[in-house]
Amino acid sequence: MTHLPIILVAAVAKNNVIGGGNTLLWRLSSDLKRFKALTWGKPLIMGRKTYDSIGLPLPGRETIVITRDRSFKAEGVHCAHSLEAALDLAEACARDLGAAEIIIAGGGEIYTQAIGGADRLEITRVNLEPEGDSYFPAIDPRKWTLAASERHLAGPGDEADFEFCVYEPRR
Ligand SMILES: NC(=O)c1ccc[n+]([C@@H]2O[C@H](COP(=O)([O-])OP(=O)(O)OC[C@H]3O[C@@H](n4cnc5c(N)ncnc54)[C@H](OP(=O)(O)O)[C@@H]3O)[C@@H](O)[C@H]2O)c1
Repeated sequence: MTHLPIILVAAVAKNNVIGGGNTLLWRLSSDLKRFKALTWGKPLIMGRKTYDSIGLPLPGRETIVITRDRSFKAEGVHCAHSLEAALDLAEACARDLGAAEIIIAGGGEIYTQAIGGADRLEITRVNLEPEGDSYFPAIDPRKWTLAASERHLAGPGDEADFEFCVYEPRR
């Protein structure tokens, strides 16, 4: 059990889709910049499918991949066989990195398992409604409140308008 705050970071379409065919369904360079800023220097936990879709460890962060496959090996990443084990590993990585929080970076299966124990949700609402096969779980308004939001029109490199939303637990 980790004592550090657990932050879910995700880009979510209007229909809650986050991906399809094990890839992202939009190009949003503003969101990639925000993702980098939110995650830099911190441990990132992700599911094996999300790791496969990225294909390499993201620089400047420690990647922890969750898989049930006991033979999984990939250079430059840590591996865990449960969310609990991943959180323990992430806490140790955070200590080494001097990081104050742990990032959950997807995908749908991992967000769904992690949202119950999360301390903050950093959600980019993407103004699209693509067909996909991975979804962000419902954000229960009895548990979460929208603490901040910031709307943006699509800039260069963005396929759609978007809104940065920060959810915090209701007190
Ligand atoms: N829009 C966004 O912000 C965002 C962010 C990240 C990902 N995505 C998208 O999300 C999609 C991938 O999501 P997904 O739900 O299909 O897969 P995922 O959550 O990335 O990974 C699922 C895999 O994680 C492992 N796993 C899950 N729960 C586990 C547990 N309790 N213990 C051990 N291992 C566990 C299993 O790996 P094994 O099969 O190896 O056992 C499972 O197949 C892609 O389309 C990706 O592009 C979107």
